Amino acid sequence: MKSFNPISFLLLIYLSFSCSVFSQSASKNSPRERISLDKDWKFAFGHPSDTKKDFNTGTAYFSYLAKAGFGDGAANASFDDRSWRKLDLPHDWAVEQGFSPEASFSHGFKAIGRNFPDKSIGWYRKKITIPESDLGRRIHIAFDGVFRNSIVWINGHYLGNHDSGYLGVEYDITDYINYGGENTISVRVDATMEEGWFYEGAGIYRHVWLNKTNELHVPDNGTFVKTKTKDNTNEISALVTLTNEGKTAKSFRINQTVLDAAGKTVSEKTINSCTLNPRETKDFSTDLAVQNATLWSLENPYLYKMVTSVYEEDKLADTFQTTFGIRTIRFDANEGFFLNGKHVKIKGTNNHQDHAGVGAAMPDALQDFRIKTLKSFGSNAYRCSHNVPTPELLEACDRLGMLVIDEHRMMGSTHIQLDDVKKMIERDRNHPSIISWSVGNEEWGIENDIVGARIASSMQSFVKSIDDTRPATAAFSGGIGSNGITTVMDLLGINYIVNKSTDKQHELFPNQSIWGTEEGSTNATRGEYYRDNQKHIMPAYDKAPSSSFISIENGWKHYNSRPYLAGMFIWTGFDYRGEPTPFEYPSTGSYFGMVDQCGFYKDTAWYLKAWWQNEPTLHLLPHWNWAGKENQSIEVWAYSNCDEVELFLNKKSLGKKTMEKDGHLEWNVNYTPGTLEAIGYKNGKKTITEVVKTTGAQAVLNLASNKNTIEASKNDIAMITVSAKDKSGLAVPIADNEVTFTITGPGKIIGVGNGNPTSLEADKYLETNTVLNIENLKEKIAADFNVSEETQENVATESWQKAFTDDRDTIFGKKVKAVVYRTEFELPANYNETEINLFYNSLGKKQSVFINGHKISSEIPENKKGDTFVLDKQILHSGKNTIAIIAQPLLKKYKWDVVNQNPGTIQIITKAENYKRKLFNGLAQVIVQTTGDTGEITLTATSNGLKKAEIKINAVK
Ligand code: GAL
Repeated sequence: MKSFNPISFLLLIYLSFSCSVFSQSASKNSPRERISLDKDWKFAFGHPSDTKKDFNTGTAYFSYLAKAGFGDGAANASFDDRSWRKLDLPHDWAVEQGFSPEASFSHGFKAIGRNFPDKSIGWYRKKITIPESDLGRRIHIAFDGVFRNSIVWINGHYLGNHDSGYLGVEYDITDYINYGGENTISVRVDATMEEGWFYEGAGIYRHVWLNKTNELHVPDNGTFVKTKTKDNTNEISALVTLTNEGKTAKSFRINQTVLDAAGKTVSEKTINSCTLNPRETKDFSTDLAVQNATLWSLENPYLYKMVTSVYEEDKLADTFQTTFGIRTIRFDANEGFFLNGKHVKIKGTNNHQDHAGVGAAMPDALQDFRIKTLKSFGSNAYRCSHNVPTPELLEACDRLGMLVIDEHRMMGSTHIQLDDVKKMIERDRNHPSIISWSVGNEEWGIENDIVGARIASSMQSFVKSIDDTRPATAAFSGGIGSNGITTVMDLLGINYIVNKSTDKQHELFPNQSIWGTEEGSTNATRGEYYRDNQKHIMPAYDKAPSSSFISIENGWKHYNSRPYLAGMFIWTGFDYRGEPTPFEYPSTGSYFGMVDQCGFYKDTAWYLKAWWQNEPTLHLLPHWNWAGKENQSIEVWAYSNCDEVELFLNKKSLGKKTMEKDGHLEWNVNYTPGTLEAIGYKNGKKTITEVVKTTGAQAVLNLASNKNTIEASKNDIAMITVSAKDKSGLAVPIADNEVTFTITGPGKIIGVGNGNPTSLEADKYLETNTVLNIENLKEKIAADFNVSEETQENVATESWQKAFTDDRDTIFGKKVKAVVYRTEFELPANYNETEINLFYNSLGKKQSVFINGHKISSEIPENKKGDTFVLDKQILHSGKNTIAIIAQPLLKKYKWDVVNQNPGTIQIITKAENYKRKLFNGLAQVIVQTTGDTGEITLTATSNGLKKAEIKINAVK
């Protein structure tokens, strides 16, 4: 029996307290805290060129680039953001917009970008409290990903600019903090420019963290666990970076403990007598051994944890967890790819980072859903095209067993590009799922020439210098035989064999490994079987759309029949927003996916399921609802991994056919309504049956969830599939009814979709927040506070002067005891259905406020934080309304003082409409997320003429 180990016992206790990242769970005395800053942000659109719409930021005599702490406008800590919209992260404002033909093709015509300046700058603000007891700790704020070009301030202090939409950024805010009080974070995001030619979202679309450590700590991404397997011993080389952000030297020891998945210590080592000078950062490494380790594999993605504990004397100064897997990888130029010494053919897909309904702002659980969907048809690899993904995607791949190519955004070998490559590798190098770093994709301007060869070669050697355990790759679309990047890569990615011969490349470079980084790019609309250029429909039979492409089947046959090829990545796994090739507006989504934007299978996913995994599979296409096509010939295809398949129409055999490896079967069948039945045989034995029936008209709605229970504390989601059935319970494959959704209990709908690439329906139904600035004030000096005529609803103000024309100096103060200010504001016709708030800022030392002649506050004192009034609808009307304020004027003490001239804003909140979506070829999807509370959530679906459906999901602790 193993003896009791006090250090690992303490670590276990610590881990069980510190794992929850959603709350400030760690106690004040913990050496490290990681606190989610996702909740309770304020948001408003700014403007790239209209100063006023950008909250006059950058207009002060000294602004944030001139002097430290001079963030002005919305960057100023005391800026009044009460009327801004409240939201939680992750947030993508692009998905919330409508579509426009003036918007970008590649971004799916969502109305943002160059032609939409009003919707291209987003401002985020958040207040956080940092306790006094944190004084002395190092405090960092980390953004996992902001699209894009962000500027961050804390308490009006400019922290920096970060332009990448994909790499995160972390700022040390220790010195800027108001300890024991409130701190204001302001972020300006500029999504005017695109980085990619695919939908990228807009805003703070990944998580934000507040990291608290001691002065001596492991910096973010400061560990690198490498594993080597020899016989039954697994050698682990563990590198850890330590940094001393203090002003005195530190002496310490580092303890490295490896825990298995059950939390048991399996290896441990201590590095004694370490020192760091003030502001010094150094790497420390140690070798550990794990006997009989459980290897990370696709079937059993087993994960270990390395716990790095740093002790100054007996005090725990830091503890840092690194999740890793023990596994080996090898690419062989003749035999392909090996995982743990076992040959694995790469069956991969390319994917972008958006999903129906939510765009780029994905809840973490959605990553799992998507990876499981890809795995369900046998895919074992994922290419992050063409950017570094969110960390949660990689965590899902580690946990679920999916190999990954992590991809840098754009080729280049200046320090700017190489620094980004370094950041990607340092952030992601501990993920066992990652098997290669891609340094670029289809760089048409350079990939065929010597400049491209030089850049690719520099990037490859740079990658090796940081991580020698995984090869660099580059996805190449040019021609074989040029003197470009094909001549330098150790692992070459081929994009599309239709225009180049992998055999020729292999002959020219026999020591080079090759895989297909993109193949396919075929187009299909889920559930459609005839091309219609008017309606923007592509048939779902796996046929090359033109001679510039080949079918998925032919692509796979090529890669699967050549042992020297490691495998291929299909363009794409999921459909995505943008690139609606071969169509234009009003198509807004891609047609390339094996599954649609919701994750519903297109037929070709069944082809892959037949050949990418071993479970007996049999699928027939198309559906059998072809009223109007009676007696016309219809192509019926079968996807199966059986040896033979026999097809029957209404019990009559249409012949048994033999399946070719990696192939499919076809029959031409004269349409008669009824039942198509296929029987699959393996070794002469009936193995599997598939039935497709002509259905009746849709009569009943149906809801099905991927989970019946969701975790309230984890922002968990349920993916609900909506369908319609006929009277006998058959799902109707052509149903297109519009369905409305309502929800009760501790859940909310966060997006809807249906996989239709031409849909212009809304993804989100949100309350609207309209802000009216109270401006164009006129003023009149009053004898005292008791005037009544000037505060009436209708007053002739032609003779009044523009407010604040006279300086508020002492002379004014001596002369004037009271001033009446007046202006007007417009309310919409539906104002009665809205909530209207007045966020008032004091114009006087004391003041009374009148709306349409009704006094809503009487002689209230100056309030630097502002006063909030919920306006009574009874005193308001649509169209013109008036506001009058009688105030004892605010005066300057010194010449340079600024007196408030801004009475505030009126906020009009209009309730969200109910979520709704049309079924598209029988299906739609609703994403339900927990509100954080426990209880029963009920989602109800209704549609005219159909019986409604209801589903219950339990939100648990
Ligand atoms: C490739 C490109 C992909 C996508 C695809 C569409 O050339 O790498 O990002 O655009 O074409 O066919």
